Amino acid sequence: MIKCHKLSKHYNPDIKALDGVDLHIEPGEFVSIVGQSGMGKTTLLRMLIAEERPTKGKIVIGGWDISKIRGSAVPYLRRQIGVVYQDIKLLPKKTVHENVAFALEVSGEPRKRIREVVPQVIKIVGLNGKEGRYPHQMSGGEQQRVAIARALVHRPKVLVADEPTGNLDAITAHEIIDLLKKINNFGTTVVLVTHDRDIVNHLKKRVITMKDGKVARDHVGKYSLA
Ligand SMILES: Nc1ncnc2c1ncn2[C@@H]1O[C@H](COP(=O)(O)OP(=O)(O)O)[C@@H](O)[C@H]1O
Ligand SMILES: [Mg+2]
Repeated sequence: MIKCHKLSKHYNPDIKALDGVDLHIEPGEFVSIVGQSGMGKTTLLRMLIAEERPTKGKIVIGGWDISKIRGSAVPYLRRQIGVVYQDIKLLPKKTVHENVAFALEVSGEPRKRIREVVPQVIKIVGLNGKEGRYPHQMSGGEQQRVAIARALVHRPKVLVADEPTGNLDAITAHEIIDLLKKINNFGTTVVLVTHDRDIVNHLKKRVITMKDGKVARDHVGKYSLA
């Protein structure tokens, strides 16, 4: 599903945000990426969604080499990869329904399809009955659920999440992770960047530890910084 080959991103000769990353992620995997701040986790995710291009090396997603992807092709890639951030960024003047629908409207989906898909993804994230609420009328966890629904509208093959629980209390964080597990059980590959030791230890899944732009450890089990 995702293959990185000697993937490097240098912001200048001194800043090697990624430095020769080799990585294979199989379809349907749930992978956590951990590591201290500044180790290259976000840079790796930004490469996956082509927000940045590699300085060297290769990145292939579902057989598609996106190392030199053109700007015009990026929207097609983004339909295959949903993204969730720590900072939730909902549109404050739109309801839950409208926030989710907007993600389909901007890509020119027909109204009929929007009417079908929005209730489906709202149900998946457990927000049925709350479609008419505005972001300020919801908790942080509920807002993150809206963001996850929004990331699912194109039925992506991969969902990447950069510290999605970073601003949530521990109980809410576990609920969000349970939702990511449920989405993974439907067959979506999940790549989760997190600082949260407790979450990683509960997951008991694959953990990739980044250090100085490199993969320092790649194992199944507990959180470790190397
Ligand atoms: N746009 C950028 N310009 C210059 N340096 C950057 C940029 N983005 C990230 N970096 C640097 O690359 C390194 C890795 O950053 P990042 O991937 O954000 O780390 P993490 O997500 O693990 O905290 C850091 O040293 C960071 O300062
Ligand atoms: Mg980061």
